[in-house]
Amino acid sequence: MGTLSIPIPKDLKRTLSSAKCVVVITGAGISAESGVPTFRGEDGLWKNYRAEELATPWAFKKDPALVWQWYDWRRGIIGKAKPNPGHFTIAKMEKFYPEFTLITQNVDGLHRKAGSENVIEIHGNLWRVRCVEEGKTFYLNDVPLKEIPPRCSCGALVRPDVVWFGESLDPQLISKAHAALTSCDLLFVIGTSGVVQPVASFPSLAKQSGAQIIEINLDTTPISALADITLRGKSGEILPALFENMSLEAPKKC
Ligand code: OAD
Repeated sequence: MGTLSIPIPKDLKRTLSSAKCVVVITGAGISAESGVPTFRGEDGLWKNYRAEELATPWAFKKDPALVWQWYDWRRGIIGKAKPNPGHFTIAKMEKFYPEFTLITQNVDGLHRKAGSENVIEIHGNLWRVRCVEEGKTFYLNDVPLKEIPPRCSCGALVRPDVVWFGESLDPQLISKAHAALTSCDLLFVIGTSGVVQPVASFPSLAKQSGAQIIEINLDTTPISALADITLRGKSGEILPALFENMSLEAPKKC
């Protein structure tokens, strides 16, 4: 892994090695270097597709086959994608810090593939489906799908077990995320535009509880103003450079 091509703030090493309880929030940007499209920006999915026709409960009710065709296409891309050095470094951070929680908005499952264990998939998982009648969830890994729209063994339709626009997040996951955010001393916010609630408010929650914030992103976001340290560049380059070239001493237990 190369050295950082951006200036490393002087107190960064101290911040990284003194932290004990760490939370990482990720968005689509962490998977961009794995070839997974992001949502916003020049080549973002929402530039070319209308969210209201594909990612809402109303869209699914109107045309489940259309919604599933779009998800089948995304599953095809994601199925071929491999975790990148950013995902792998976050998995290593989990081993390094005594307390570690990863909150991801991504539904691609790449963090777990990279070895992360304590992952809160706050927007769900693209490989998991949910029966619209029974509510039961199960994994459906076929790419492409054998039938569109796919069905449960009970005969009812299944939907992707992801959070769509207009839907609430799982309250249990929210409270788990809140508990981690209000007790961490260091928060990384990586590859998210920071515009989708409630995750967009998570950094201020951690900040109010005394955490330092490090943002890693190609661009300035609404989170940047809150961040103590902003690192501009690709997460797949910055993260490995931070943790592999800095020979940090493992912190003691919380
Ligand atoms: P966005 O597409 O809104 O934002 C991606 C962010 O990643 C942008 O700020 C980019 O600058 C940054 N970025 C891109 N490539 C990067 C790289 N290699 N390294 C670092 N940063 C990079 O994606 P999210 O913020 O994840 O919701 O979007 C949030 C939610 O909006 C998604 O979970 C999805 C979407 O609608 C649901 O599906 C419910």
